Parts: sequence; C-alpha cells; structure tokens
Amino acid sequence: MSDVLTAPDRARNLTVDSGKYLRAARGETLSVPPVWLMRQAGRYLPEYRAVRVQHDFITVCRTPELACEVTLQPIRRFQFDAAILFSDILIPAIPLGAGLQFDSGHGPVIPHPVRTGEQVQSLRDFDPQDELADVLEAVTLLRRELPSETALIGFCGAPYTVATYLIEGGKPDPFKFTKQMMYGDRAAFTLLLDKLANMTIRYLRAQVQAGADAIQLFDTWAGNLTDDEFRTVNLPVLRRIFTELSDLGVPMTYFALNSMHLVSACEAGASVYGLDWRMTFDQARARFGTEVALQGNLDPILLLTDETTIRNRTREIRAQAGPRGHIFNLGHGILPSTPIHNVEVLLDEIRGGRQ
Ligand code: CP3
Repeated sequence: MSDVLTAPDRARNLTVDSGKYLRAARGETLSVPPVWLMRQAGRYLPEYRAVRVQHDFITVCRTPELACEVTLQPIRRFQFDAAILFSDILIPAIPLGAGLQFDSGHGPVIPHPVRTGEQVQSLRDFDPQDELADVLEAVTLLRRELPSETALIGFCGAPYTVATYLIEGGKPDPFKFTKQMMYGDRAAFTLLLDKLANMTIRYLRAQVQAGADAIQLFDTWAGNLTDDEFRTVNLPVLRRIFTELSDLGVPMTYFALNSMHLVSACEAGASVYGLDWRMTFDQARARFGTEVALQGNLDPILLLTDETTIRNRTREIRAQAGPRGHIFNLGHGILPSTPIHNVEVLLDEIRGGRQ
C-alpha cells in the first residue's frame, strides 16, 4: 500500500491528525493552542540576517536549500507548531512576465506594470511545475526536514492583492492605477483577477502535491475595497479558488488585513479565517460562525513592549478566543525590530512550560 504513496503523501499521512496546528485548524478543542507567527522567518532573527548578507532576497526565495534553511530557522529556535514556506506573494510575478526586484529600502518593484487590457492579455499562462519548480522543491525538502508534528503551510497572494502590485508597479499606495482600471476598464480588471485566480489554483495545488499540509491566501489590501466592491470583484475569485481546492482536504486560511467592514468576506469559503488585531474574537465568531477555525490576533507592536504587557494581552486573547478552533498568531507580520526575548515571553505565556 505504501508503495503507491509519494514521499510527500507519506510525510503528510504522518502529520495528519497528529500536529496541533492541523487539529486546531479542523476545529478541535486544545488546552494549549498551536502558535506560529506571520513572517516568522525574517529580519528579527540574526541567523536570517547572516544568510541575507550573503544572498539577496529573491535568491533566497529561489534556491531550494536556502529557502528551506531560513524556513527552518524559527522552527529550530522556537518550535512553532507550523512552518510557513519562505517565499513571497510576488515571486509569481516573474513567470507571469511582469518581473520583480527588491531594492533595499524601497520594497518590491514590478518593472513591467500591467495597466492596459493588452498588458493583461500578454501575462504568461505558466505551469508552476516548470517555472516555479524551485519553490516546489523547497516544499518537498521542508516536509522531509520538519518534525512530523510541525505543519507546513504553503501560500499565495490573493488575486486582488497581487493585482494591486502588478498594476501599481510596486507598493499599492494610493491605489491610483488599480482603481482607475477597476472603475474605468472593468473587463481588463476582471480578466486580470481571473488569470491570477487560475495561477493561484494551479500553484497552491502544486504546493500541496509537493508536501504542504495547509495553505493560506494573503489579501493584504482587500480592506481598500468597499464591501460592495469586495462582493462584486473579489468574492467570486476567492470562492472559485477555495471551491476548486477543497478536494485537497487541507485547511485553507484566508487572511485579509483591515477588513472589519468587509461583511461579505465570510462567504469566501475558507476553513480558517485570519484576524488582524482590529477585530475581536466575539465579532469574528458572529461574522464567520462556529464551523470555521480562527487565527490571530496579537498586534505585532505588542512584541515591542514589556513582559507584563505581552503576557496580559496574550491571556486576554486566549480567553476571548476560547479553546476550540484557535490558532494563536499575530494580527500581521512580526516587525524586524522585535526583540527575540519577547517572542520567548509570548511562547512561555502560551505554553506555560508545556509544548
Ligand atoms: O515567514 C513568512 O511569513 C514567510 C515568508 C513571507 C514573506 N512575505 C517573506 C518576506 C510571506 C508569507 C510574505 C507575504 C507577503 N509579501 C505579503 C502578504 C503578507 C503581508 O505582510 O501583508 C506581502 C504584501 C508581501 C510583499 C512584500 N514582500 C513586501 C511589501 C515586502 C517589503 C516590505 C518588507 O517587509 O521589507 C516584501 C519583502 C519580504 N518578504 C521580506 C521577507 C522576509 C523582507 C526581505 C528582506 O529580507 O529584506
């Protein structure tokens, strides 16, 4: 029987139902919640900075051994319950043909912005098995290296958020070109989101086939839409992604920053919803119901304060979230200036000496 399973299948069978992340994501009640932190691999870790002195960011993302190494760094140090593949939501911009550069201090730059219907048409319809094979190889390496109880999370940017970077040519602020296209050329905008949704479905499926135990969709800029706009332009692609991937049987998280007003986000079809620090667990349960798991939601700035403040807020969040279907996380990515000791305090508060 085991002969017909691929290596990632076997690895996944070992983790299924054993790790705390997967159990909580499936709605189980746990006395100590699983914990991982968004952007847990990154600049607050000296061992990550040491790798970055030698290699630029895109090289780290696209070299399987380096991506694997930096993904494992926070797991070795903190034994988080989940590892998130080290990559970036903008890596697919490269095979799409829009390009990607990270100029230090300026954030991401897309050298060939996508602002016309013709430019949308000419985005490449690539096969992730070929053109993102390096990322998939990192996933397979990681599943082999990680402890069996540590879940491996694969991810992709949500189509709307990736579209904002492609259209603006970098950081989408103040969303001028994005909104010009959304309001002025709806056909091109819809085609762009559809093409990105197709890519997302293929890419996330490939990540799970390569060994990811769960997937997360990051929709950082969804909060820039009104609820009506979200329902019209964003919800259909999100629903299509989560419906088409549901046969994989893995937890699927949707994280939208600054989304308090997006009442219709609960219809996206995810099995886990990530909360930023603005929404309380009571508000989230009222919106998302009791069938899904919730992930969050310590304000990352709390990790720049002191031990008592961190412990108090962590206790409050756990009391609000309750023991069922809760994955402890931050409300957004950990800040590069976070002292390592404060992460240790957070974990000690959550685990109380227990794993
Ligand atoms: O540890 C992890 O969470 C996994 C890796 C990961 C990164 N980016 C690594 C990264 C993940 C899941 C992301 C997602 C991502 N990337 C998002 C969505 C989540 C969010 O934070 O809102 C977005 C919007 C991006 C785009 C992006 N990548 C920006 C805007 C920047 C520059 C800003 C910054 O923080 O420097 C990046 C660069 C980036 N992605 C870094 C890391 C560790 C810093 C690169 C470096 O080492 O210099």
